[in-house]
Amino acid sequence: MDILKGDHTNKIMMKNTEVSLVASGDGTEVIHHKLYKGSRWAMVPEDAWTALEHITILSGELIYNSPSGETLLLPGDSVSACPVDEHAIFLAKTEVEFLYVTSQPQFHYYSNAVKDMMELAIQVEQKDGYTAEHCDRIKEFAMMVGEKMGLASDEKYILNLAAFLHDIGKVKVPREILNKPGKLTDSEFELMKKHTTWGKETLEKTGLVDLIKAGEIIEQHHERYDGKGYPSHLKADEIRIEAAIITVVDAFDAMTTDRVYRKGMDIDDAFAELNACKGTMFHPKVVDTFISLRSKVEERR
Ligand SMILES: [Fe+2]
Repeated sequence: MDILKGDHTNKIMMKNTEVSLVASGDGTEVIHHKLYKGSRWAMVPEDAWTALEHITILSGELIYNSPSGETLLLPGDSVSACPVDEHAIFLAKTEVEFLYVTSQPQFHYYSNAVKDMMELAIQVEQKDGYTAEHCDRIKEFAMMVGEKMGLASDEKYILNLAAFLHDIGKVKVPREILNKPGKLTDSEFELMKKHTTWGKETLEKTGLVDLIKAGEIIEQHHERYDGKGYPSHLKADEIRIEAAIITVVDAFDAMTTDRVYRKGMDIDDAFAELNACKGTMFHPKVVDTFISLRSKVEERR
């Protein structure tokens, strides 16, 4: 018998989440998760995936959102599926710990890939002159809007990934261009525009279905409602709603954040600017929804 005490060796620390592989063998993994209050976790159907997946709550309170409704899970409660056939999103109402058991190993395969991408996204935002909070705020704001607009669980799951990773393609854009205080030259701007497609390609290379889907959203995060955006000049409802949400919250965060070369705008002015560009740059319903969440947005900043 293996006895594992305290500090688990196979531990992955991500922002708001700690994940430890506590036991594995014969194709089964037992993974301990600790989620901080407000963070999310998901069980999602995958092609050719036949595994049993099971969670048991150890401490804290976890809200379980599935297409059939919302349930509050308390210590001792559990959820099982074999295989997972619908998207389930879990939201930590308090700090929560649970054991996750799966009969097909995925811990290293999936967690490491997602973790690597998240670390890369954080490096990129720092290279871009933001603090490490930027990706987190974009993700939180995007999820607030997605929830209020009634996106389906699977759409919210991909939105969550895409929002955090939206600028990952900037890893290939030179630092001097990212941090250039003045206007970019035409050739510099052409290069900058490629970060949308580069982001999609970076996620495609992981070979992971969820990250590939997130990449499709990321490629569209600079499209404009009036069709004057890039890279594909998509317009209105040709643009995926998840991308339209990221566009609005990213613009808001960019306007209100202090950068090396300029002070951030105040919140009133930023909301006025979103309103002024409603229907041209931005999806009108997304802007209205975001503005309706103003008090929550201010709380989060
Ligand atoms: Fe971007």
